Amino acid sequence: MGKDVIIACDFADGRTCLEFLDKFTEEKPFVKIGMELFYAEGPNIVREIKARGHRIFLDLKLHDIPNTVKKSMAVLSGLGADIVNLHAAGTKAMMEAALEGLTRPDGTRPLLIAVTQLTSTSEERMRSELLINAPLDETVLHYARNAKAAGLDGVVCSPLESGKVHEACGEGFLTVTPGIRFADGDKGDQVRVTTPADAKAIGSDYIVVGRPITAAADPVAAYRRCVAEFVG
Ligand code: C5P
Repeated sequence: MGKDVIIACDFADGRTCLEFLDKFTEEKPFVKIGMELFYAEGPNIVREIKARGHRIFLDLKLHDIPNTVKKSMAVLSGLGADIVNLHAAGTKAMMEAALEGLTRPDGTRPLLIAVTQLTSTSEERMRSELLINAPLDETVLHYARNAKAAGLDGVVCSPLESGKVHEACGEGFLTVTPGIRFADGDKGDQVRVTTPADAKAIGSDYIVVGRPITAAADPVAAYRRCVAEFVG
């Protein structure tokens, strides 16, 4: 898979999501389904969007004991997701178990990527609440190396970190990056943002874009603008 734009479909229900996707008559964007939509609609929303021809990043961020994650990943793999994720904090044993669970009887499997540190976690909270004394960026790279060692395909990170992740884990290790805004756009609640063009320059493999597309007056035009800037 090459560079691509993934639309974060953060909708409260399936009907709104499908009405949004109906606007795309000429292209089949890569879609991210997160916890809100998945918990509201259940696994059928994944099957339904997949059946419409979209590729799917199922963003459920699993974190549990290895056996539970392995069995849950087998279920997600059966839904036809193209990318799934988990928390690298669950340890290498959990990540390896996840890969085993994801592998289908025919040997294929979705790509598996890891969340390192959530961007909502500050260095100060990491230290005071989680008792992690290393600097935040070191933790991110350490977790990325763990994910690579466990055999994962990449990480979710800020575009600003994708260059360093590639240096540490190789160019083939995927960086999937949210926090994208157009140069003339509204930042919303995102703090550190990057334009699609800058994300491309720094080396992101996939950008995850939500509100700049879903809340645009013309979502199809906004999606095309993202693709033009990021994929070229
Ligand atoms: O609307 P917006 O473009 O900010 O959406 C970004 C998407 O990426 C949301 O689904 C958000 O939950 C997700 N995300 C993020 N930052 C992270 C991890 C995930 O914005 N560190």
